Amino acid sequence: MKLNSASLALPLFALTASAWEVRRGDEHPFIHVPLADVDDYTSGKVHMMIMEAMTAYVDEIRADVVHATGIFDPTLGIEPVTKYTPCIDGHAAGPGPNNTYGCRNLDLYSFTPHGDLGSKVKVGNDIWGWAHTSSDGVTREFGLVGQMDGTAFVEVLPTGQIAYLGRLPTQTETSIWRDIKVIGHYAYIGSEAPGHGIQVFDLTKLLDTSLLEDPKEFSIETDLTSLYDGLPAGSSHNVVAHEEKNLLVAVGSVPRLSACAAGLIFIDVSDPENPVTAGCAAEDGYVHDAQCLTYYGPDEKYNGTDVCYSFNEDTFTIYDISDLSSPTVISATFYHGVSYSHQGWVFDEKNQSYLLLNDEYDEVFTRGWATDQKTTTYIWDIMDLSRPVLTGYYKSPAVAIDHNLYIQDGLVYESNYRSGLRIVDASSIADDPTGAGFFEAAFFDVHPEDDAIGGEAQFGGAWSTYPYFKSGYILTNTLERGLFVVKLNKTE
Ligand SMILES: *[C@@H]1O[C@H](CO)[C@@H](O)[C@H](O)[C@H]1NC(C)=O
Ligand SMILES: *[C@@H]1O[C@H](CO)[C@@H](O)[C@H](O)[C@H]1NC(C)=O
Ligand SMILES: *[C@@H]1O[C@H](CO)[C@@H](O)[C@H](O)[C@H]1NC(C)=O
Repeated sequence: MKLNSASLALPLFALTASAWEVRRGDEHPFIHVPLADVDDYTSGKVHMMIMEAMTAYVDEIRADVVHATGIFDPTLGIEPVTKYTPCIDGHAAGPGPNNTYGCRNLDLYSFTPHGDLGSKVKVGNDIWGWAHTSSDGVTREFGLVGQMDGTAFVEVLPTGQIAYLGRLPTQTETSIWRDIKVIGHYAYIGSEAPGHGIQVFDLTKLLDTSLLEDPKEFSIETDLTSLYDGLPAGSSHNVVAHEEKNLLVAVGSVPRLSACAAGLIFIDVSDPENPVTAGCAAEDGYVHDAQCLTYYGPDEKYNGTDVCYSFNEDTFTIYDISDLSSPTVISATFYHGVSYSHQGWVFDEKNQSYLLLNDEYDEVFTRGWATDQKTTTYIWDIMDLSRPVLTGYYKSPAVAIDHNLYIQDGLVYESNYRSGLRIVDASSIADDPTGAGFFEAAFFDVHPEDDAIGGEAQFGGAWSTYPYFKSGYILTNTLERGLFVVKLNKTE
């Protein structure tokens, strides 16, 4: 299904423009006009529309209906890239057809198709990472690569090549949605697959060097540390890690009419062998994604308490979770152009003053600041948690929908589906929170098929990126191709 306003089977909701103040010069008034009626968010109709469009795209690439050349054909695929392939004159060229990628300031170190990472379905999704330093000071870095049919484990070698070490299959069915986080040396893996639960996997199993020669299919029965089965239907849309507190938070655990309303479900994982439900936050309904942290920042009232910044479809919502048995909503805020509040990240965990948010539907439906379909990132001043202020936006030079973003040292790593990994320098945020000083520092376009037409606001390409390895290797997982390992090269 191609996404456009004709595929929007919802009554478009026409609110009279309320008088929101202008916050970026007089360029754009802030007007709250939601994409759809509040009931269509609450019932899940809007989210279902996104999931159906994604499902249609995955069916299409798997059936290879549109791409008759066979590039997404699960039996053919694209050749791996196993050697350093620098970005030269705007392109990094791997072997074989359909293996050349637009880029700037990022070099390709390796590309591994999902099929070479043990997947039979060959469709990817989320990714996270884990690093281990031995007693003699040797650090090894590992990628946890989400796929429809399981999680592939890879080691990122010092050369930027990867070694496939094995995989943990899905606990039940395959699903387009799998999400992975790490607390300590345990991976927590949730999925939309019904009855899946959350797999708890001890990552020290990956330290066994025999896996480098002989990858292992781990057992969903005997190789799990535990399986958390406290979710209402076993499914979750994302899992969130509050590492400091050994707290895992499952979000989007339908049904929406269950006691936790598919909101935040708190799981105490202090003892990974016995994860324990510690409460839930139903107050603002469905939570699509979140970042949960101990709060350090200018809002003295909350200093040192625990909060979740949550992306709740039609709002940006902040919770006080200091009492897990009775969490409260500090604020729930609409914003200009809100279409599907999807995910976001604080700019600085040590001084939580700003946050960047991505909206998954503003580009598709050409709303708010995204009328030209260039990927739009929303800038929030969160210095007063009870009144977050949308101060401006950053607009990518490329047309695409945005998906997950993560931030480190002033750089924003955006996985913008068909325009790939886009790294945005946001270090000017405190000087100018309108975003006028943000700029694209680098990009690596993992989905060249739409380059000739200048990009498309459709699903496909980059799902998520893990940017936190000390080595500087950046891992981007894609829907249809596989795993890319890239690294910034500022010497272009
Ligand atoms: C893939 O490569 C082949 C051979 O070069 C080319 O004919 C085809 O158009 C490419 N497919 C896409 C979708 O770009
Ligand atoms: C917040 O708490 C930290 C650590 O206790 C302290 O260093 C900081 O000054 C406090 N900030 C404010 C705004 O009170
Ligand atoms: C936190 O960030 C705000 C906004 O940039 C700034 O005014 C404040 O001085 C910072 N606080 C600390 C302790 O650095």
